[in-house]
Amino acid sequence: MTTIAIDGPAAAGKGTLSRRIAEAYGYHHLDTGLTYRATAKALLDRGLPLDDEAIAADVARNLDLSGLDRAVLSAHGIGEAASKIAVMPAVRRALVEAQREFAAREPGTVLDGRDIGTVVCPDATVKLYVTASADIRARRRYDEIIAGGGTADYDAVFEDVRRRDARDMGRVDSPLRPAENAHLLDTSEMSIEAAFSAAKSIIDAALKH
Ligand code: DC
Repeated sequence: MTTIAIDGPAAAGKGTLSRRIAEAYGYHHLDTGLTYRATAKALLDRGLPLDDEAIAADVARNLDLSGLDRAVLSAHGIGEAASKIAVMPAVRRALVEAQREFAAREPGTVLDGRDIGTVVCPDATVKLYVTASADIRARRRYDEIIAGGGTADYDAVFEDVRRRDARDMGRVDSPLRPAENAHLLDTSEMSIEAAFSAAKSIIDAALKH
């Protein structure tokens, strides 16, 4: 069984890269950010508080991983709520357990998130830490919003990226950081194609061992 762990900050291109890798190798893919988002959405939908750890953990324990849909869960408000409940250890324990079960699927899996190589799958076959400068990540997110017909202010998007980074890297439980044996992939100057090809070389080399 092969597990590919992909971590990195928001808007670094992890999602697209992970989907491409899963498709190329015929592995199952889990975007673990969606598990935090779906838990947050379930709380919001039911009018439950976002600051009660026991209630949030209960919702997390009952989450069904099969129906996660990024289109439904991508709203900005859901992302904000997700990053608030992601600091709660009991929520993380519940979701990490579900993520580990997923990681055991045959013939292999790709999991992407913030703590896959460090906490969820410390024994992963290959670990990638995908990053890009905050300016480039904000620019990509801004272009995405505009391309989708929305309106945005670049400075606000940039501030948002910085705030997310601070929250993800600064939390006490499972902060975002590269695992010791992770391969760093800085996509600041890379197209999606170039990033995929760099990732594929790293994975192929690791699978040969
Ligand atoms: O990648 P994303 O924006 O969908 O993630 C939503 C929130 O969930 C984000 O604030 C970070 C958090 N998250 C986490 O703490 N651990 C993960 N493995 C994945 C996401």
